[in-house]
Amino acid sequence: MKTNLLEVCYLIGSVTFILGLKMMGNAKTARKGNLIGAAGMIIAILGTIVLFVKKDEAGVVDPNYTVPTLIYGMIGGAILLGTIIGWLAAKKVQMTKMPELVSIFNGMGGACAALIGLMEYGKNVGHTGSSIAIVLGIIIGSISFAGSVIAFLKLNGTMNQPIRLPAYNILNTVVMIAVFAFGGYLVFGQINSHMLLCALFGAALIYGVLFTVPIGGADMPVVISLLNSFTGLAAAFGGFLYGNKVMLTGGILVGSAGTLLTLVMCKAMNRPLSNVIFGAFGGGSAVAGPGSDAKGSIKDISVSDLAVLMNYSKKIVIVPGYGLAVAQAQHVIHELELLLEERGVEVKYAIHPVAGRMPGHMNVLLAESNVAYEKLVEMDDINPEFEQTDVVLVVGANDVVNPAAKTDPSSPIYGMPILEVNRAKNIIINKRSMNAGYAGIDNLLFYDPKSSMFFGDAKKALTELVAELKTM
Ligand code: TAP
Repeated sequence: MKTNLLEVCYLIGSVTFILGLKMMGNAKTARKGNLIGAAGMIIAILGTIVLFVKKDEAGVVDPNYTVPTLIYGMIGGAILLGTIIGWLAAKKVQMTKMPELVSIFNGMGGACAALIGLMEYGKNVGHTGSSIAIVLGIIIGSISFAGSVIAFLKLNGTMNQPIRLPAYNILNTVVMIAVFAFGGYLVFGQINSHMLLCALFGAALIYGVLFTVPIGGADMPVVISLLNSFTGLAAAFGGFLYGNKVMLTGGILVGSAGTLLTLVMCKAMNRPLSNVIFGAFGGGSAVAGPGSDAKGSIKDISVSDLAVLMNYSKKIVIVPGYGLAVAQAQHVIHELELLLEERGVEVKYAIHPVAGRMPGHMNVLLAESNVAYEKLVEMDDINPEFEQTDVVLVVGANDVVNPAAKTDPSSPIYGMPILEVNRAKNIIINKRSMNAGYAGIDNLLFYDPKSSMFFGDAKKALTELVAELKTM
């Protein structure tokens, strides 16, 4: 009876994960999808704890077994502690710091998968199938944990330069061979050795560090997504080991979603995954761009001139970027949009797939200030519209509008699809200085004769613009 009920809990968990993930594909249903997935997870966790049955090797249930109170206390305490830490971290985190939070949460998942493997190995020596699942769980989980910690340190600026170790390739290959040798020896030699298990764990951790350390900070979101898929895979091995269907489903979903997201990000940047892993883009080796002679000069625009220009425009396209998120200017930009629409101006937002620092960053940010979802237009759909656009207002975006991606084969972002804002009649760029964006490269768009710089922090500058427009 208990076993059947538990299977029902797992079925509910699996179905809600799939439903939740599907709903997260749309901004309108994403919040609900998240809650549905979380509810399914609670059912699966509570079911596992409350409906636990002890079985012997042959799968026969021991009807007299009851879980000791101390074990329940420890599980309850761990859940409480984890919930408090997770809740507070997620509540407090700023949107721009989200990739850091995701990396550390992901690292914890990897560590769990590896620890499960370390605990279970001794009980499964001699069972080749289970041992393979355990060893793979330890390897992949440890790589994911160590890699995620490095990704976290890179994103929060503690490790802000890609590190090139001497004889890196040789070192990396030696460690990788050691990982497989330890793992293979444990499984196929049917060895029950704590020392060898610890050596495997240690070598996999070192490999995780070596794998992530040379990659530049700009590529960390892609790396985190890749590590996320590793964690999913490691959890799926755990599910296979325990015959736990919800763990298997969850692991496979995380693994496949992480892999797809990694590929989508690489496609949006037009860079193969191998180039992300071995290329060190955005890591200080950035190209400075053409010399100042070739650039021409920049001109800036005053808030009153900009207000007049916008007031008499028919169509305006706003291009949000990372700087909009840093300045938390999403509410004032929505106010600007409404004000312009009141005056008969058509306003749209152009969304680049990798604008900001995480997938969907701009969509989530603008949804926060209730910008209508239909107003957010994807890159491929908005590009043909720029020619009929009177004013493009670029707010805190840089790389995603950099024409070097199309014109300069020596540029590290060459080939990345961009928002072709230089086809609009007037280009207004709001940022604080002439500093580069994340890829660390110059942007010739700022020197285009049709461009004008509207310098200042996005929130402050747009607030002034809104105030000026209100006086007209
Ligand atoms: P960036 O190229 O990073 O440019 C952001 C610009 O915002 C900077 O040039 C900065 O100039 C400006 N800025 C910063 N704070 C500001 C503030 N308070 N007010 C106004 N402006 C401010 O951003 P982007 O165009 O959104 O491109 C995203 C980059 O991240 C791309 O290179 C992309 O490949 C990379 N990336 C993204 C993802 C995802 S999934 N989104 C994943 C991996 C990599 P100032 O300092 O002069 O103000």
